[in-house]
Amino acid sequence: MDATGSAEPQARAPRAVAKPPLWLLAELTYRCPLHCAFCSNPVDYTRYREELDTAEWIRVFREARAMGAVQLGFSGGEPLLRDDLPELVAAAHELGFYTNLITSGVGLTPQRAETLKRAGLDHIQLSFQDSSRELNDFLSSTKTFDLKQRVARTIKDLGYPMVLNCVMHRYNLPHVGRIIEMAEAMEADFLELANVQYYGWAWRNREMLMPSRDMLATAEAVVETHRPRLDGRMKILWVVPDYAEGKPKPCMAGWGSVFLVVAPDGVALPCHSARMLPGLDFPNVREHSIRSIWQESPAFGAYRGTGWMSSTCQSCDEKEKDHGGCRCQAFLLTGDAAATDPVCPKSPRHDEVEAMVKAAGDPRDLGTPIRFVPGARRAG
Ligand code: FES
Repeated sequence: MDATGSAEPQARAPRAVAKPPLWLLAELTYRCPLHCAFCSNPVDYTRYREELDTAEWIRVFREARAMGAVQLGFSGGEPLLRDDLPELVAAAHELGFYTNLITSGVGLTPQRAETLKRAGLDHIQLSFQDSSRELNDFLSSTKTFDLKQRVARTIKDLGYPMVLNCVMHRYNLPHVGRIIEMAEAMEADFLELANVQYYGWAWRNREMLMPSRDMLATAEAVVETHRPRLDGRMKILWVVPDYAEGKPKPCMAGWGSVFLVVAPDGVALPCHSARMLPGLDFPNVREHSIRSIWQESPAFGAYRGTGWMSSTCQSCDEKEKDHGGCRCQAFLLTGDAAATDPVCPKSPRHDEVEAMVKAAGDPRDLGTPIRFVPGARRAG
């Protein structure tokens, strides 16, 4: 046991039989034409080049569906870089999954979108970086603002609900009203304003990306002024940043609880970021069935339930609701994935998070030069 009351995760036995995964996220590739400052790819993603082939992915879909998974997200990187995407969508559709494409829009020509629609794709989520061409293109290190507008029209023309996603941070929070108006003009049905979470490349760039509490409060107030006007036309989801909330998020609805990620090289994970956690040997779908990965692997059992929790979390009334917060965040902030998530005020390390938020960017700093580490470069 260490100072936080945690033990080595790999040493613990898997918990009792888990309910099946409901959500399968297929990260088809880490390759991406964009290089966003908050990219969710692992920072060492170029190490993982051996992508699963078409037949391997379809076997994964079949096994996950047989266990009871109902929703399948095609993600990346940029999933449109896979030439076999229509074949994968068709297989998933045939198996009865509700399918979702999570894309930057690069490569979604009207013809490709038609093909995916015919293959049975149910839903498309298109990412934007900002309401201005300058910031959109700067944050993604590409010139894609106009292209995204065209792709949005294509999605609408095909009759899909228009779901726009914009990662929010210190540089675009002051534009939130214009982002909402842009989404409205594009006839979006849903707008997800997802405040940046600090993992991967966003962790590297957190000092540049983190907004002050004042900026967040001002932006949230703007969102609230738009909501009544848009009621019944466009739903706005405001995803709060737990650093500033002082409340741990129930990450992934609990480790190994409903969410299964399969990385491009076949490694199975309970969340996008988990492969950086030390001491966990994440199984590969090339060597193990989905059932054995989910039910039997020590890595998926490591933080299930409440038995692994520190005494701080064990004694908390919220433990069944917030599941102890986020394991990846706890590791990044403390070096121990089993520690109480430091965004929680009960954590002995909470003052460090408070200090980070207090030191975070002020609107008056926005004139200073921005020096991000650009996110994932195209592998291969
Ligand atoms: Fe990995 Fe929260 S992102 S557990």
